Amino acid sequence: MAIEAATLQETFEQMERKLHRIVPDMELRYKAELVYEINRLKKERGAIILGHNYMEPALFHTVPDVVGDSLELSRKAAETDCDPIVFCGVRFMAETAKILNPDKTVLLPAKVAGCSLAASITAEDVRSLRKRYPGVPIVTYINTYADVKAECDICCTSSNAAKVVASLNGDTVIFLPDEYLAANVAQETDKRIIFPTRVGLDQPREGLDYEMIGWHGRCEVHDKFTVHDVENVRAQFPGVLVLAHPECSPEVVAAADFSSSTSKMTQYVQQTDAPSYLLLTECSMGDNIMAENPEKEMVRLCSIRCPHMNEITLEDTLNALQNNEQIIDIPEEIRIRAKRAVDRMLEIG
Ligand code: 13P
Ligand code: SF4
Repeated sequence: MAIEAATLQETFEQMERKLHRIVPDMELRYKAELVYEINRLKKERGAIILGHNYMEPALFHTVPDVVGDSLELSRKAAETDCDPIVFCGVRFMAETAKILNPDKTVLLPAKVAGCSLAASITAEDVRSLRKRYPGVPIVTYINTYADVKAECDICCTSSNAAKVVASLNGDTVIFLPDEYLAANVAQETDKRIIFPTRVGLDQPREGLDYEMIGWHGRCEVHDKFTVHDVENVRAQFPGVLVLAHPECSPEVVAAADFSSSTSKMTQYVQQTDAPSYLLLTECSMGDNIMAENPEKEMVRLCSIRCPHMNEITLEDTLNALQNNEQIIDIPEEIRIRAKRAVDRMLEIG
């Protein structure tokens, strides 16, 4: 949650109390100036800052009014009265906030901040799929752009994917565009899941009907974790608990002790009494959890990073508030149709 501090010195002291084990003081002093100015300007402008769990610790613990996973941040975006909304996350998340708030200014503090999953599929892909499978409901992961959401029936996040799939009529659904999330959800549902992909898939997966048309969606970050990584870490850190985001392959998820959304991973660590944890996800999460749970050791594989989430910095967040950059715009005709898919998801609870 955002720091409440009257002076720059107080800002530094609060940051220091929380982050002294993670960020050197000299860096904290520099960042405290940015944090102080961001929080001052945020108040002056009546803005809200939403921060995804992957933000770096000196941003995550200081400027967002709300932090969370994609579902929690979508919910918050749906109910806020503040304007502008500054989204410290990636573009598809800021787009979701705009879909829900057409009359507000939504700012993304980076020019691009993409996502390999969102980039893997186009609206035309979905339209051709619809023609091929008339009447079959299409679920899209929230990690897609507004024009893709506009062609789908309902969105889901990693937190509610199985629940969303279960809520649909009929025994078959199409699930886009994450191959691994689709395969992981297939383990949790009786429905037949059609996952359209391109020729050249590694291996067939239980519960999933592959259709060789379309694209190949994987998260470029979670795709890099392997079962071998899990075995190596378990051998080196006996007793370590392994948490894998469901964008990891089903083999990695099966080798882990727990798998769910980024917020549920955080809650799991907070509520579990083990000395050490390996998080198979963006490594800032380990820092962020450790700052609040100093007694727990987070083993991190930090050579694997999300370059898109890491585009969001304190400097650019300040620039966003100072200069209204980057404004997210979505053509109204697309926004209205995309909102139906987002609203349907939010209604599921
Ligand atoms: P969460 O919804 O679990 O926060 O995941 C978003 C994401 O992009 C993970 O890579
Ligand atoms: Fe996209 Fe993967 Fe980065 Fe999440 S971690 S934003 S899915 S590229």
